[in-house]
This record gives sequence, structure tokens and C-alpha cells, in this order.
Amino acid sequence: MDRTLRQSLWLRLRERARCSVAGLRRRLKLGAGDWDASPSAGIEQRRYQSYAEYVALQRAKLNMLRPAWLKNYDQRYHAALQERLCGHQLVAPGASVLCLAARIGTEVRAFLDTGCFAVGIDLNPGAENRYVVTGDFHGLQYPNHCVDVVFTNSLDRALDLPRLLLEIQRVLKPGGLLVLEIAAGEADGRSAGFYEATRWDSVQDILALFLEQHFTVEVRQPFRTPWPGEHVVLRASALPAATAECPGARSG
Ligand SMILES: C[S@@+](CC[C@H](N)C(=O)[O-])C[C@H]1O[C@@H](n2cnc3c(N)ncnc32)[C@H](O)[C@@H]1O
Repeated sequence: MDRTLRQSLWLRLRERARCSVAGLRRRLKLGAGDWDASPSAGIEQRRYQSYAEYVALQRAKLNMLRPAWLKNYDQRYHAALQERLCGHQLVAPGASVLCLAARIGTEVRAFLDTGCFAVGIDLNPGAENRYVVTGDFHGLQYPNHCVDVVFTNSLDRALDLPRLLLEIQRVLKPGGLLVLEIAAGEADGRSAGFYEATRWDSVQDILALFLEQHFTVEVRQPFRTPWPGEHVVLRASALPAATAECPGARSG
């Protein structure tokens, strides 16, 4: 396909996505009062009219991104994450890794390139994605205690953070690793954008949630690429987490 045709196709796609996002934005009536306090200190949740509305909004984002921006992000983030993983070497070659909200698979490739078996899930992995399958991190399609490592840098996209935490505990093997890249909080100068469903004051507010659930910290390391935040490696308790709230069970 020649360049002009490709560009015009992308512009039409983006326009279509922009119209649907604009419609959603009107329906959501996004404004000052659309965040609810959550039961956890320092964490707030965006209000949506329905779960379907939240999903539609999250799914729309990929089509809004310029291909050149995405390519540049992909290259920079792949290199930066791989360097962080190689730095601490806590994730051993051969480990099985599930990457949550992995979009086109940037982080999946970083884990593959460190010798792991890795796969991602995302509400919208785009077309013909070799690295990421369709899935919702609030209800994963995988069985209990089946992976050595879970990774995500998208906690801010969770509509229900406690539910996501339960799903992570459910699929992680006892003693497994949870690798999080957590964006800096509002107290550190970051403000939530249009697509964020959860926002927090500080990284510590998010970490507190995981530490209450018997995770222990192995590494905490600040970074600047692709955005200011902290790379955190947590280890799950060696005893299997109770799965009563998510009985046995994969969804879908
Ligand atoms: C900021 S992007 C990050 C993508 C990827 N981790 C990266 O760094 O390239 C957030 C991603 O979260 C996905 N997402 C949002 N809510 C989700 C959910 N409930 N389950 C799975 N993916 C979700 C979106 O589709 C989007 O691809």
C-alpha cells in the first residue's frame, strides 16, 4: 500500500474513532465532579454510566494514536523496560509471564527478549497481534496459580482496582512475582488524563493496597521513561492466596 493511501486510511479511521470518543465524552459529561473517593486512602475512581461505557472508551484509544508516535513509544519503552529487567535479574529466563493491558505487546517483547515465555492481554490488542490476545484484566481467562510473573503498567486503567488485585493473586503462582510500573501520583505533579479510570496521590497509596494483601517488596526503582514513575517488584506470599472471591476460576 502506498504512503498516501495509508495516511488517508489512517486519517479516516482516526476521525471515526474521534467521533465515537467525542460522543462518549458527551455522554460521560466529563468534568470536575466525575471522580469518586475509593475505600483506599489517596485513590479515586472515575464514574462511568456503565461497564460497557468504560470498556468502549478504553478500546477506542488505540485507533486515536498516530502510528509514528506508537512506533517511537514502542522502541523507547521496549529498550527502557528491558534494561530495568536486566538490571535486577529477578525474572529468570524460562519464567512464564502474563502482561496485563499490553496493547501492541511492547512489554511482552521485552520479557521475550530476556528469555521468558510471555503473553499479553488487552481489551483492544489491534489486528493480527502476535503477542497480545483479547482479554479484560477484571476477569482473566486463565486458571488459578498458572504463571510465575504478572506484569502491568496500566493500573490507572482499572475501573475496579481491588477486583484486579484479586485476579492478579488468583493467576499468580504462590511465591510468584508481580512487576508493576506505577505512574507518579498527583502529589508528584502528574494529573490524570481522559482515559484514566483510577488516579492516586502517590505511588505509596497504590503500594499500600498490595502490601495489605501479603505481597512483599523486592525492588523499588524510580524511572523517567516512558513517563515518570516507579518500577516495583513484589513477591506474592508462598501460600496460595484465597480465591473464594473469584471461585476457582477463569472467566470467558
Ligand atoms: C496506556 S495503554 C498501555 C499499553 C501498554 N501497556 C504499553 O505500555 O504500551 C493502556 C492499555 O490498557 C488497556 N486496558 C484498559 N482497560 C483494560 C482492561 N480492563 N483490561 C485489559 N486491558 C485494558 C487499553 O486498551 C490500553 O491498551
